[in-house]
Amino acid sequence: MKIIGIAGSLRSGSYNSALLRAALEECPPNAAIEIESIRGIPLYDGDVEAAQGIPARAAELKERIAAADGLLLVTPEYNNSIPGVFKNAIDWLTRPAADIPRVFGGRPVGLIGASPGAAGTVLSQTAWLQIFRTLGVRPWFGQLLYVGRAHTLFDAAGKLTDDAIRTRLRAYVRGFVEFAGKDDGAG
Ligand SMILES: Cc1cc2nc3c(=O)[nH]c(=O)nc-3n(C[C@H](O)[C@H](O)[C@H](O)COP(=O)(O)O)c2cc1C
Repeated sequence: MKIIGIAGSLRSGSYNSALLRAALEECPPNAAIEIESIRGIPLYDGDVEAAQGIPARAAELKERIAAADGLLLVTPEYNNSIPGVFKNAIDWLTRPAADIPRVFGGRPVGLIGASPGAAGTVLSQTAWLQIFRTLGVRPWFGQLLYVGRAHTLFDAAGKLTDDAIRTRLRAYVRGFVEFAGKDDGAG
C-alpha cells in the first residue's frame, strides 16, 4: 500500500516535515509512505494555466496522488489557518477541476500537524475540512493528532525525541493505513 505524505512548509527546519519523517519511521510494514514536497510549485496564476497548462511539478504530484492508496497531509498553522504556500499547492493540484474526482475523489486522507503553540494546529486542521468536503476525499477521523509545543519535541537534526508523541503518531499512522486499506463500499 502506498501513501503519499506532504508537509506544507518550505522551511528546512520545519517541524511538520520532521513530523512527516517520523510518520515514515512509524509506518507499518504493509505500507510505504513516500514523502513528497510542495517545493517547485509556483504561485497559482490563471493566465499561466490558460497559456501553458499545469506546471510540470504540479502535474507530476497530481499523478503520484492519483496512483496512491492514500494521502497524508502534515499541516502547519499560520494566522489560525492553512499557510498560503500549502493552500496554493493544493489549488494547483485541483486544476483542471475536471480532474478532481480522479485525483482526490474518495481518496483516503489523513491530517496531522505541528506548531510551537499549545493548540498545535487545531484551527488549521479545522480549515482543511472545507477543502476536504470540496474535493470529495475520504478523510480519516478515527484519531486526531495536534502536535503542540513542537519546539520542545524534536532535536537539532529534526528527529522526534518525545516518546508520548511518537506513540500517538505510531497509532495514528497504523490506524490511517488500516482505514486506507479498507474498501469504502462505494464500489
Ligand atoms: C505568518 C505566520 C503566522 C503564524 N501563525 C500561527 C498560528 O496562528 N498558530 C500557531 O500555532 N503558529 C503560528 N505560527 C508559528 C508556526 O506554527 C511556526 O512558524 C511553525 O514552525 C511553522 O511550521 P514549520 O515548522 O513546519 O515550518 C505562525 C508563523 C508564521 C510565519
